[in-house]
Amino acid sequence: MSKISAAITAVGGYVPDFVLSNKVLETMVDTNDEWITSRTGIKERRLLKKENAGTSYMAIKAAEDLIAKKNINPEEIDLVIVATITPDMLVASTAAYTATKIGAINAFSYDLQAACSSFLYAMSTAASYIESGRYKKVLIIGADKMSSIIDYTDRSTCIIFGDGAGAALLEPNNEGLGLQDEYLRSDGIGRNFLKIDAGGSILPASHETLEEGKHFVHQEGKTVFKYAVSNMAGACTEILERNSITGEDVDWLIPHQANLRIIDATSNRMNLPEEKVLKNIHRYGNTTSATLPLLLFDFEKKFKKGDNLVFAAFGGGFTWGSIYLKWAYNSN
Ligand code: UT7
Repeated sequence: MSKISAAITAVGGYVPDFVLSNKVLETMVDTNDEWITSRTGIKERRLLKKENAGTSYMAIKAAEDLIAKKNINPEEIDLVIVATITPDMLVASTAAYTATKIGAINAFSYDLQAACSSFLYAMSTAASYIESGRYKKVLIIGADKMSSIIDYTDRSTCIIFGDGAGAALLEPNNEGLGLQDEYLRSDGIGRNFLKIDAGGSILPASHETLEEGKHFVHQEGKTVFKYAVSNMAGACTEILERNSITGEDVDWLIPHQANLRIIDATSNRMNLPEEKVLKNIHRYGNTTSATLPLLLFDFEKKFKKGDNLVFAAFGGGFTWGSIYLKWAYNSN
């Protein structure tokens, strides 16, 4: 019997309509378009402004887009994983609500949190279920409403993040396509450099935490940048070496969209020409769990069956890694 591998068989995506441009940010904080563009590569980002709508609103839209395009019956989906750091609520699972709303009534579902590496880890988790033969259709959704945890008076973070969602379906493949290898790591040394201080079990919400702005994302950008460059590039070179491939064999790099300079450093270490490196950071900024699936969503038509894709991410925790995957279908 040939080994079962886990292939991506469909993708979907959603970004809100509201655009926050660098020009508008200039009127909100002490910054300018030139600084943001040259330091990050970001020109604009999308924000979810709809009242009473959280991360699940975008996750549902992305999943519905995938279901419509692939023309599948949602009742056939076995498992729904929502990768997110901004769940609708604490305790009540965003994935459970999303699964029910999209009609995946026979699925079980849960949230997965690994900061900006959430979707990468979700790919690994989903692939393991498929490879084991236990499940046949696993839907993973990377979705974040970063605007709900960003301080729009803090220029060091508000210029970076945006909202969005992307989805991918994983199914068994008998042709050797799909996930080939993964290199995933984490290191708790990162805990103090990228975090939200309050609202967790160490420092529950109080009047003081609210007044002190401790429910917003805090990032020591320079330190995170240093670790991100070294670990994202390191994970990618590791995955190439382990699989005896070089940059020439890679068709597409799908890198987390945190900073254009981190993406460039990673692709340079892999000796990749510009045209193989997928980017949409200029349009969406850093959408955290949604960056990788939104790249799949935006560039799906470029991929050919058998193409070699290398995914890479780095995020809070720290968490990071790389996945090598062979694309399983031609889209048109
Ligand atoms: O996705 C999860 C993982 N996160 C990342 O990978 C993010 C990694 N970090 C970064 O991308 C970058 O560190 C940032 C984009 C966050 C910041 O860029 P940087 O080149 O590291 O800037 P910096 O923090 O070292 O600041 C340089 C200067 C400072 O001024 P002085 O001290 O040199 O006078 C800052 O105060 O730029 C100033 N600055 C700004 N100026 C205009 C910081 N933010 C801004 C701003 N506009 N928005």
